Amino acid sequence: MARRIITTEALGDEKKSEVSLRPQLLQDYIGQAKLKETLKIYIEAAKARKETLDHVLFFGPPGLGKTTLAGIIANEMGVNLRTTAGPAIEKPGDMASILYKLNEGDVLFIDEIHRIPRQVEEFLYSAMEDYMMDVLIGQGASAVSKHFSLPHFTLVGATTRAGMLTAPLRDRFGVVARLEFYSDEELKQILLRSAVVLKVGLEEQGALEIAKRSRGTPRVANRFLKRVRDYAQVVGDGVITKEIANRALNLFEVDQYGLDEGDRRVLLAMIEKFRGGPVGLEAVAVTVGEDSGTLEEVYEPFLVMNGFVARTPRGRVVLPKAYRHLGLPEPEACTAE
Ligand code: ADE
Repeated sequence: MARRIITTEALGDEKKSEVSLRPQLLQDYIGQAKLKETLKIYIEAAKARKETLDHVLFFGPPGLGKTTLAGIIANEMGVNLRTTAGPAIEKPGDMASILYKLNEGDVLFIDEIHRIPRQVEEFLYSAMEDYMMDVLIGQGASAVSKHFSLPHFTLVGATTRAGMLTAPLRDRFGVVARLEFYSDEELKQILLRSAVVLKVGLEEQGALEIAKRSRGTPRVANRFLKRVRDYAQVVGDGVITKEIANRALNLFEVDQYGLDEGDRRVLLAMIEKFRGGPVGLEAVAVTVGEDSGTLEEVYEPFLVMNGFVARTPRGRVVLPKAYRHLGLPEPEACTAE
């Protein structure tokens, strides 16, 4: 079978449009230096031994490159990539049919792996550990269990919610890696690379301007690049300068730190309903209508990293930088940053 670089059937629309911007090899991947270095070693070692790579789990906030890295692993190992997502696998039979179609060495990427049902998770254990599965065929009293050997494969799991994985599943991954937010300089380099792919004129200062407002996230940076490109084309001469990037992002209401509507909602709820904290995660979650896990693992990391919110033993606290940024008066007690 011909080797596919990446299959997109299970990716959302936004992810699909990003595929061409994704680096295909480790050498083209910018950022996550430590992870890149270790992956390179694991891949080289597995290839030298002519073995499949151990199962890999990536976790961290959305948009940081988990799907991209799954594609890179498959490319570097010279194998097929099969892509699916947790919500698409409802019962063990769904998982069985995916596993049954795998070829020797394939990478099976399961996005949002925390969303697979418990029964499916348990079904995965023997597939991951011993490359075998027992499938119940037929129904009721006439059902028989049939044993299948599976080809050796690498499961790459991705999750924004590491806390939601059970220990038995997490422990079956030989490599567990957290993806970190990118620096402005790394995002700038990513944007300059994307501009070449998209054939957009992008000046270095323009790239830096977009980078600074991209919440440390390549997916956000690339999305802004496309919108600023539209602005440059219609309002300017097509080239993205610092000035054009600035004007476009102001027009799109992307603030100086890249906070979006969701982040502002969280900060305002903490300030207006809880006087800036300390407040428990659950209480904020109920107020903004999000589940507490999403708040903790999707919104909070960026707000904490940027000094808008602190996690204290007594709860979450809004920091002075957030008041200044939102143009709100700081409460008396809130002086330390
Ligand atoms: N496009 C999206 N993420 C990237 C990365 N980490 N390196 C290079 N290009 C990218």
